[in-house]
Amino acid sequence: MSGTSLDGIDIAIVDVTNNNKCQLIAAQTFPFPTALHDKLLALITSQQCALKELGEVDVELGQITAQAINHLLTKHQLDANNISAIGSHGQTLFHAPNSDYPFSMQIGNGNVIAEQTGITTVADFRQRDIAAGGQGAPLVPAFHSELFADDHEDRVIVNIGGISNLTLLPANKDQAVTGFDTGPGNVLLNGWIQRHQQQTYDNQGQWAASGQCNDELLTSLLDEPYFQQAIPKSTGRELFNLNWLDNKLIEFNENISATDIQATLVQLTAHSIANEIKCYLDSSKTIFICGGGAHNDYLINQIQNLLGDKKVSTTDELGLHPDWVEACAFAWLAYKTLNKQSGNMPTVTGASHPVILGAIYYASSEVS
Ligand SMILES: Nc1ncnc2c1ncn2[C@@H]1O[C@H](COP(=O)(O)OP(=O)(O)O)[C@@H](O)[C@H]1O
Ligand SMILES: [Mg+2]
Repeated sequence: MSGTSLDGIDIAIVDVTNNNKCQLIAAQTFPFPTALHDKLLALITSQQCALKELGEVDVELGQITAQAINHLLTKHQLDANNISAIGSHGQTLFHAPNSDYPFSMQIGNGNVIAEQTGITTVADFRQRDIAAGGQGAPLVPAFHSELFADDHEDRVIVNIGGISNLTLLPANKDQAVTGFDTGPGNVLLNGWIQRHQQQTYDNQGQWAASGQCNDELLTSLLDEPYFQQAIPKSTGRELFNLNWLDNKLIEFNENISATDIQATLVQLTAHSIANEIKCYLDSSKTIFICGGGAHNDYLINQIQNLLGDKKVSTTDELGLHPDWVEACAFAWLAYKTLNKQSGNMPTVTGASHPVILGAIYYASSEVS
């Protein structure tokens, strides 16, 4: 898995047992080489490139992914024969589920991954759901539902990556599971601290905690129509990026310190998450956070403040460390694909029906 934060590739080795449950065996994040990180960021930000460049970066990311997988397997004394399949999300370059010709583009070439690992690889998970009329996102709610739902308690799982998404898990199984992207998670926090402090992220939210939220700016940021849009909905860096923030700041036309803007951005992430929880599943008692945002103590405290008597915890409490939930989800989705089971949830994505997700690149050893 490598998400919108562009922090690196998360690899999880997972045992998916017959009853569909998942056990984490090993995991590691492989930060992108700086040159590749910069190339990906430039592509995503400019939305411009030559076709040759696109073809090459797709293969380059496939190679880097395969190397990381091979490295982790060696480290844990496993080899390709021990592994049934790879589920590779790849890197989203452009997510456009509402275009005239809807698509979502993930790169990290599956042919290359299968060839260089010797393991059957499932990739391109989002586009079949989009072809069936869905958003192609989020795809993790099916996994959250399988692992984290409870018969007695309404639960919410919040994945705070670059973009933040949540899954609503009602205890009553007659009520549909829902899930959607709430908006920015870490993406603006990372961008702003990079610009002003030359750091890739705000460790534990300490810089934000040293500032003051500007309530008027917060109101103006929350005025973005996406936050009011009805579900199903999904978003990405195409909308929430530093240009978006710069334009809002120009409109706002007041001098606010960079530190106070960081504090306000934390509130933006916290409010957009808390508002949706209160709107869609106010009966929930516990909120389980996963994704890198779980390490931002200041952000988590602000979410807790907004949610009053609900308990804000992490998926650690449910037996899966918050750093690896999304990577495990794509291993599980690959399992579903290879077993010809649907992986999308139409109640979440808005697709007209359940579909088998992804494209399969078989290992050479599968040739009959
Ligand atoms: N110690 C930390 N303090 C604050 N934020 C953190 C910390 N560790 C990770 N993060 C945030 O989490 C992000 C990575 O989260 P991740 O779930 O991998 O997102 P994505 O799925 O978009 O790649 C980092 O870019 C950073 O913003
Ligand atoms: Mg990441």
